[in-house]
Amino acid sequence: MSTTVLNSPDRYTTVAVTLHWLIAVLIIGQIAGGLYMHNLPATTWKFELYQWHKSFGITVLLLSLARLGWRLTHKAPALPEGMKSWEKLAARFTHVAFYFLIIAVPLAGWLMVSASPYDLPTVLFKLIPWPHVPGIPQDAALEGIFKEVHEYMAFAIIALLVLHIGAALKHHFINRDGVLARMIPLLNKKG
Ligand code: HEM
Ligand code: HEM
Repeated sequence: MSTTVLNSPDRYTTVAVTLHWLIAVLIIGQIAGGLYMHNLPATTWKFELYQWHKSFGITVLLLSLARLGWRLTHKAPALPEGMKSWEKLAARFTHVAFYFLIIAVPLAGWLMVSASPYDLPTVLFKLIPWPHVPGIPQDAALEGIFKEVHEYMAFAIIALLVLHIGAALKHHFINRDGVLARMIPLLNKKG
């Protein structure tokens, strides 16, 4: 199967754009929700919020795996010629780090709840019982490690996001090279 037929060199495919924005919105919601729920007193409301956080988090994990699979089998459009080599390197680094984190953060969350000695069930969207990660011992110290990893990697997403949005705005308003429109095709139709 030829990748050039399926993926024009000028823009991302509809599948890539849809997955990019779906995952972006879910992740921003997960970070805000995660930080909010963390400090709540232990009530049924908090328990309920944790279930939603776990449901959307596992959704991100599955979507991100699908996205990685898509990315590995489809070519991305080339970066604009005018970019300096350090800028191209920074873009590649950010994208690879994002792919790692959008899988590693929800995975660490899942490992955390699996290692918890409380052994709380996860029921996705109040409908689908979701198992713990097989073979993970229920141990408070291990749970604590996964919790730290989950939290710090979520902070790393925030840091990358600041760089990523800054770069996207620079491409759009300063370089005016159409890079933002590759991810927001509507911009192309207007301009
Ligand atoms: C992209 C997906 C996810 C993001 C961005 C995310 C982000 C966050 C953030 C920012 C926090 C607050 C950190 C803290 O203050 O300790 C948090 C807490 C938490 N997350 Fe996630 N999370 C995701 C997926 C998941 C998944 C899949 C699970 C479990 C299946 C999960 C379970 C938890 C739990 C149990 C907490 C509360 C930890 C505590 O009480 O300290 N998360 N998450
Ligand atoms: C947590 C949220 C986000 C994540 C995880 C994320 C992740 C990514 C990744 C991994 C790529 C590379 C795609 C590939 O080559 O396969 C990408 C591309 C892109 N993203 Fe994001 N993104 C997020 C939010 C945003 C936001 C808010 C904007 C706009 C302000 C944006 C604008 C772009 C643009 C314009 C590209 C295309 C870059 C290019 O053509 O080389 N992203 N994003």
